[in-house]
Amino acid sequence: MSTSQPNTPLSCSRRSFLRGVAVATATTASGALLAACAGEEVVAKADAADLEVGGATILDGWVLSRPGENEYKAFSTSCPHAGGTINSIEKAGDVTVAVCPKHGSKFDVATGDVVEGPSRDPMSPAKKVERNGDSIEITN
Ligand code: FES
Repeated sequence: MSTSQPNTPLSCSRRSFLRGVAVATATTASGALLAACAGEEVVAKADAADLEVGGATILDGWVLSRPGENEYKAFSTSCPHAGGTINSIEKAGDVTVAVCPKHGSKFDVATGDVVEGPSRDPMSPAKKVERNGDSIEITN
């Protein structure tokens, strides 16, 4: 006779729940439970005052941009071409781009789209980016 419990879509391990509670200090416990059960956690934080409108930065494995006053985007620095690490931000005409040094692909920091190859695929977006008080939080 088996003693294991059925795995339902609403089930959540104790470990996942506790990790979610630890991460979500500024959210409710129910929000932490939902985030933990969804496998999401805050993976990087930035000071909102350090990111001007139209600007971008590289932070803890993420390209973080602020295309509009209340609009934030984040993309993995793992290059979709061949796994290089996107490591710089520069201007390409009117577009701010994130650059992979391995083969030179450039990506629009506002959309993640390829501006210049060889990559054919866009940068991979974070699950969520939001402002929380004075911080910008990247959740993945
Ligand atoms: S791995 Fe980034 S451009 Fe090739």
